[in-house]
Amino acid sequence: MRKPLIAGNWKMNLLCSQVPAYFQTLMQSLKGKPGQRTVDILLAVPAPFLSLAREMAERDGLLIAAQTVHEKAEGAFTGEISLPMLLDLGVSWTLVGHSERRQYFNETDRSVALKARAAVERGVTPIVCVGETKDEREKSLTETVLRRQLETVLAELPRDADWVIAYEPVWAIGTGLTASDQQAQDAHAFIRQLLRQHSGEHADAMRILYGGSVKSSNAAGLFKQPDIDGALVGGASLDPLEFARIIDSMS
Ligand code: PGA
Repeated sequence: MRKPLIAGNWKMNLLCSQVPAYFQTLMQSLKGKPGQRTVDILLAVPAPFLSLAREMAERDGLLIAAQTVHEKAEGAFTGEISLPMLLDLGVSWTLVGHSERRQYFNETDRSVALKARAAVERGVTPIVCVGETKDEREKSLTETVLRRQLETVLAELPRDADWVIAYEPVWAIGTGLTASDQQAQDAHAFIRQLLRQHSGEHADAMRILYGGSVKSSNAAGLFKQPDIDGALVGGASLDPLEFARIIDSMS
C-alpha cells in the first residue's frame, strides 16, 4: 500500500515571522493526531525559512522540502543552494523541475534529470514535477510530453530509487482550472505504466501526486482515483485552515 503524501508548495510567499503561527493553526486544525496519521504531510518552503520550518516540522511530525536545488555539491553558482547545505539543515526532500522553474528559470528536461539524480545519490528525496501546457494538451501531446520529461529522468536514476512524481498540468497551476478526476487519473495511469516499464514492481510502490488548483472542494474526488497518491498544493496551502481540510479529505 502506498502511504498518501499531501505536499504544500508555498512558492515565494509568506514571511519567516509567519511560520510559527502557520504551524500552530495547521496542527490545531488537523483531525488526526500525529501518532495516528495515515498521511505524510510535507511543506516546500522558501529557502530562508528552511531551518525554522524544519525545527517546527520535526516537533509536529511533518516533512520539509526545498523548492529547488542545484545539482553540484559546491562552487561558484551565486544564489544557488546545494544538497549538502540542505542535509546540513536536516532537510531531506526537495521539489525538482516545477513548471515555474522550467518556465522562468530555464530549467530543461536534462537539468531536471541531473538535479533528480544528484538528490537521489545524496539521499534527498526529489519530488519531480512534470506536466503539459494548455497548447500541448489541445494538440493531444500530453502523453508525448510526459514520456519525454520522465524518460529523461528515468535514464539517470536506479530502478529502485526513492523519488516521487508530481503530475502538474501547467494549464491548471494557479489558474483555478483543475484537471477532471478522470483526466488526472488517465495521466497518472500513463505515468505508472511508464514507471513499470522502467522499474518493474517498484512502480507500484511509488507515489504520484496531482497538482494544479487543488482545494478542499475538489480534493476528495481526485483522491478517490486509484493512481492518485496525494497532492502538491500551491495557493491553497498558504491558508493553514484550507490546507488542513485538504489533508483531512485524504485521511
Ligand atoms: P496551485 O499550484 O495549487 O496554486 O495551482 C500548484 C503548484 O504549482 O504546485
